[in-house]
Amino acid sequence: MPQTVQGVIARSKGAPVELVDVLVPDPGPGEAVVAVEACGVCHTDLHYRDGGINDDYPFLLGHEAAGRVEAVGEGVTEVQPGDFVILNWRAVCGQCRACRKGKPWYCFATHNATQKMTLIDGTELSPALGIGAFIEKTLVAAGQCTKVDPADAAAVGLLGCGVMAGFGAAVNTGGVGRGDSIAVIGCGGVGNAAIAGAQVAGATTIIAVDVDARKLEAATRFGATHTVDSSTEDPVEAIRALTGGHGADVVVEAVGRPETYEQAFYARDLAGTVVLVGVPTPEKQVTLPMIEIFGRGGALKSSWYGDCLPSRDFPMLVDLYRQGRFDLDAFVTERIGIADVEAAFERMHAGDVLRSVVVMEGTA
Ligand SMILES: NC(=O)c1ccc[n+]([C@@H]2O[C@H](COP(=O)([O-])OP(=O)(O)OC[C@H]3O[C@@H](n4cnc5c(N)ncnc54)[C@H](O)[C@@H]3O)[C@@H](O)[C@H]2O)c1
Ligand SMILES: [Zn+2]
Ligand SMILES: [Zn+2]
Repeated sequence: MPQTVQGVIARSKGAPVELVDVLVPDPGPGEAVVAVEACGVCHTDLHYRDGGINDDYPFLLGHEAAGRVEAVGEGVTEVQPGDFVILNWRAVCGQCRACRKGKPWYCFATHNATQKMTLIDGTELSPALGIGAFIEKTLVAAGQCTKVDPADAAAVGLLGCGVMAGFGAAVNTGGVGRGDSIAVIGCGGVGNAAIAGAQVAGATTIIAVDVDARKLEAATRFGATHTVDSSTEDPVEAIRALTGGHGADVVVEAVGRPETYEQAFYARDLAGTVVLVGVPTPEKQVTLPMIEIFGRGGALKSSWYGDCLPSRDFPMLVDLYRQGRFDLDAFVTERIGIADVEAAFERMHAGDVLRSVVVMEGTA
């Protein structure tokens, strides 16, 4: 019997989100139903609402979540009811050419639940990033559930998207390590996680760049050794000045705009690495002199989900959190109810928060 629960949807482009009844089917083969305990509000949810990802409305928003497995379908062995899990949006297939090459974090055939959650009238919902977690119960592929040691769901749920993406952009994609210099442009939830990751990895020069002084203040708490307010100074010049005139070994772009990508391109050292983790909207273009692309060498990389492997990285990051070596709590600016997502978008837009986290009633 499908369950009727409340979920947050975006019905049409740019319209405020709505809290509505959603039908959640029982899990079929390879699927799981998870009782969501907490779900962070990520910029990507706002992109969905505004039509910046695709036009498959209505969307069931939310994708940065942790909760308890309630039921599993036939053939599911990796998790069982009662397990505390973080949801991931790249359940690797194990079969595609990337997986077969031993690089499953690039998996080209990641999968989601086969059945659809629907509105009461039968309209199928498109779950954000194949999850949809601003809802009391969600249906996912079992491979989207990563079992971890129980911890505060509002904090560790953030590993399900933004924090993992930022941490991994620096550490996995950028390969930042002991003694390296790194600059991070855009210090929201994602950028600050890149800064925290760089600190864990042993980078010694960690430069935070943002146009908002509050974000730079947060960056200092996450381990930035220097901050640059790019609303008042040229970030490329500033980054070079802080790195002996050379530029940083790794520059992470965590905004998703042409001007910040260009800053990243010019602010890295010769043979350095640019990592694009910010998600551009489809109309964005960059123009770069080819001679500079050649002459600067190094690598221009994109980071999907921080090139993470949830099964490898989530338990490790939960361990670091529980040991007090990675401050996930500091990303949680506020805990809100499921009816407050639209207001949280406004606060995100105004730059007031790193993360607003929806905490489901009765689970706190
Ligand atoms: N690649 C991935 O897998 C992945 C995963 C999650 C999120 N994202 C993307 O990462 C980006 C950041 O997400 P977030 O949740 O941290 O968003 P956010 O809104 O919390 O942070 C964005 C930050 O960029 C700053 N900013 C805006 N314009 C700037 C400029 N011109 N120069 C410098 N800083 C500027 C803002 O002040 C803010 O601090 C988004 O594009 C999001 O969609 C990517
Ligand atoms: Zn694969
Ligand atoms: Zn996200």
